Amino acid sequence: MSAPDINHAMPTLEVRHLRTHFETRAGVLPAVDDVSFAVPRGRILGLVGESGSGKSVTGFSIMGLVDAPGRIVGGEILFQGRELTRMRPAELRQLQGNRIAMIFQDPMMTLNPVLRIDTQMIEAVRGA
Ligand SMILES: Nc1ncnc2c1ncn2[C@@H]1O[C@H](COP(=O)(O)OP(=O)(O)O)[C@@H](O)[C@H]1O
Ligand SMILES: [Mg+2]
Repeated sequence: MSAPDINHAMPTLEVRHLRTHFETRAGVLPAVDDVSFAVPRGRILGLVGESGSGKSVTGFSIMGLVDAPGRIVGGEILFQGRELTRMRPAELRQLQGNRIAMIFQDPMMTLNPVLRIDTQMIEAVRGA
């Protein structure tokens, strides 16, 4: 029997009606406009879409890395039931890189070419 305080039905990550906009001089660019999805515990989700469709901005939003002129203007991001968009920066930093991480797109910037991939993946998981 499972422990009563663990809700196994709760998704690890839930994005609800996320809206991330860039307020530029040329106008408002709705990079992410009403995006919702859930990642159940132990599962993997792939976001697929054409270039410029908002995949990276969705990832940056989850990581709390959207900088001005970008801003999360609506929706909720729940990580293990905790709402990230309204979390205090110190609390968010505890999750970033520890419980939630991002591998940036440019592999030469992100991965060290002189180390084996498995070494780098294990290092990331261990938090070393
Ligand atoms: N810093 C920014 N300032 C203005 N617009 C941006 C910025 N970053 C991304 N965008 C715009 O947001 C949209 C989504 O971009 P992005 O998430 O990088 O797409 P994808 O990763 O799906 O290729 C694009 O139209 C892009 O030009
Ligand atoms: Mg991208």
